[in-house]
Formats: sequence, structure tokens, C-alpha cells
Amino acid sequence: MKTILPGQTIGIIGGGQLGRMMGLAAKEAGFRIAVLDPTEDSPCGQIADYKIVAAYDDETALNELAKMSDVITFEFENIDYEGLKKLSEKAYVPQGADLIRITQNRINEKTEITAAGAPVAPYVSADSFEELERKIEKVGFPCVVKTAFGGYDGKGQMKIDSMDQLEEARSLFEHSSCIAEAFVPFTKEVSVIIQRGVDGQSYCLPIAENIHKDHILHESIVPARINAGVTEKAIEAAEKIANHLELIGTLAVEMFVLTDGNILINELAPRPHNSGHYSIEACNVSQFHQHVRAVCGWPLREPKLWAPSIMVNVLGEHVEPLQKEIGSYPDWSIHLYGKAEAKEKRKMGHVTIMTDDLKKTLEEIEASTVWFNK
Ligand SMILES: Nc1ncnc2c1ncn2[C@@H]1O[C@H](COP(=O)(O)OP(=O)(O)O)[C@@H](O)[C@H]1O
Ligand SMILES: [Mg+2]
Repeated sequence: MKTILPGQTIGIIGGGQLGRMMGLAAKEAGFRIAVLDPTEDSPCGQIADYKIVAAYDDETALNELAKMSDVITFEFENIDYEGLKKLSEKAYVPQGADLIRITQNRINEKTEITAAGAPVAPYVSADSFEELERKIEKVGFPCVVKTAFGGYDGKGQMKIDSMDQLEEARSLFEHSSCIAEAFVPFTKEVSVIIQRGVDGQSYCLPIAENIHKDHILHESIVPARINAGVTEKAIEAAEKIANHLELIGTLAVEMFVLTDGNILINELAPRPHNSGHYSIEACNVSQFHQHVRAVCGWPLREPKLWAPSIMVNVLGEHVEPLQKEIGSYPDWSIHLYGKAEAKEKRKMGHVTIMTDDLKKTLEEIEASTVWFNK
């Protein structure tokens, strides 16, 4: 356990937008930022003091990062576990490597969520398609088959409606082992971002209600439009998981809300999360500031929401129309991540709008030409 102070260097593995926003928060306090990313002009590389351009599992590069950093954190979970474990033996990695081992593999993740006493949808795991065929009756149809490793934004998963269709999931095994889980007829998706300091004190950010389009997060509405009973269950589940994992840093817990008011945990992310970006403007402590506090051994602050908020993602196809509309919306906080190529569906930025009237602001978003073709 160490306290890291301004002037010292925070090393970040991964140079995407999450690293960039973490770095910007840290720089406000006077920390220096070192980043490891394979691309020359990464979103975090643009704001970092030191940049190492190499693969995430490049041992020489990791050693270099260790030498220049007083503490090391990460902005995504798909890093090499063995490499991180080795790194944590010679550098200060307060979050530990085990958090990565668990959250980068859906099979480990479900096992640990269950061991923590939090609910998940019925599921089976399988190393081969034949094993899946033998086990699938335990889950039934419709179900969702997901690769254990490497999926994001709905990639690496397939909804299967019947035994006849199961064959379509065979190709997923080319990538890795898989899980099959029951399709959940949820009424809402919400996420709880829980952050825990080295002293074991944890806080949850206000719960976000998440609306996806084509499996990509479109909009987060905060506070989530759920009742007090659901809120309580969601927070209780997040706390159970964080305590079970002995979390240090940030854990985003994605959940399904069912018609009867119960919840099921969908998946975990061991880092700041897209659905928590609203906290930059709308809270007294953002998920990025709180994350920096946690890994630097500072006491965490109890989050407060200043105003209801909506965060809308800006994908490649939204950048041009957004730039045309900026002059019309003084209340929109614009965040663009500095990515050169505005490819379709690529996350390029987000917009946060604080409001006293969620309904009216949702209508304003629908009426703009940024996200909806008119
Ligand atoms: N079992 C399920 N039942 C219903 N919808 C699901 C299920 N699993 C995933 N989804 C939908 O697909 C989205 C993406 O799945 P998720 O497991 O979160 O993968 P990722 O976010 O890594 O792509 C979820 O947010 C949800 O909308
Ligand atoms: Mg997800």
C-alpha cells in the first residue's frame, strides 16, 4: 500500500479514450502520465507526458513502463495476464493481475460473480462445439452463445433460437471456449460503477440506465428510471462482487432488470466504463478522478449527482453532423477523443447534457440531426 503524489508518474496500459480521460483527470492534480499503446497517435498518447509505442505484451516495453512509472493501471481488460502478473512483481500494480484474469474470461467471470452471491442467468460453459451440444438443454432456447475471450460491442456473440440453429454458433469456437446463457427478456439494462480504495472503502456512482443500438451503447440516462427496490438490489450485488474480488480501483457491473424487479448480472469491466462518462460533468467526483484516487492510495469521495444527465455516444457517422450542430446547443458538453479516422460505428466521442427535465432533453436529442437521419 502506497500513496502516490502529484509530480509522480502514473503508467497506463492502453491508449484509448478511457486512458485519455483517466490521464486528463490525473494531470489536473499534477501527475505525469506514461502510456503503452501500439499506435503512434493514440487518444491517450496525445495527452501523455511519456509514450511507449509497442504491443501490450511486449516485455521490454512493459519493463520500460515499469521503470518510468510510480504506479501502473490499465484502461482495458484484454491485456496478457501472464505479462501483467510478471509486471506486478517488479512494479506497483495495486489493482493486481487477478482482476484481469477473471474479467477477461466470461467463464471465470460468471464463476466469481456466482461465488460472490450475486445472480446470473442460467449458463453453461464449453470448450468445444460438441460439448456445447451436449450441455445446451440445461439452458434451453432462446440463448446467447458468447466467446469466453475478447468480445466487445456485441462482437463474438450470437443469439440462437432453436436446436436447428445451434450449428451457427460452431464458428465462435474457432476463437476460444464459449459460454451459452439463457436469453434474458429484460425491461432495462443498467450499470453500477463501483470504486474501492486501498483501505476497502467503496462507493457506487449513481446508477445509469443504458440504451443500446446494434449492441453498441447509444445513450446512458442518469439516474436510471428504476424504483428504490431495484436500486438497492443493484448496489448490494455490486458491493458483494467488489468485496469478493477485493477490488482496488474501478469495476463496472452491467445488469439486466427483469419485470418482477429482480436483477441479473450480465458482465463486469475492471475499468472506467462508457456508461460512467456522464460523471465528468454531472458528479462532484468523476469515475476517472475517483479511479486515480483509488490507485494512488487517496481516500475516495462519496459521489453526488449535481443534476439528472444524459450521455450520448458519438460514433464515426455522427461526427460530421455533430460539428454542424455544436452552435445550436450550448448545454451540450462535447468530448471528442482525437481519433483520426471517423469509421462507421467507431466510438469517436460523447456528449453529456445535464438537465432538469429528462423527458424534454431526450426529445431534443431525438429532434437533432446528429443521431437520427431526418
Ligand atoms: N443473455 C442475454 N439476454 C438478452 N440480451 C443479451 C444477453 N447477453 C447480451 N445481451 C445484449 O447484448 C449486449 C452486449 O452483450 P455483452 O455480454 O454485454 O457483451 P459486450 O458488451 O462485451 O459486447 C448487452 O448489453 C445486451 O443488450
Ligand atoms: Mg456489455
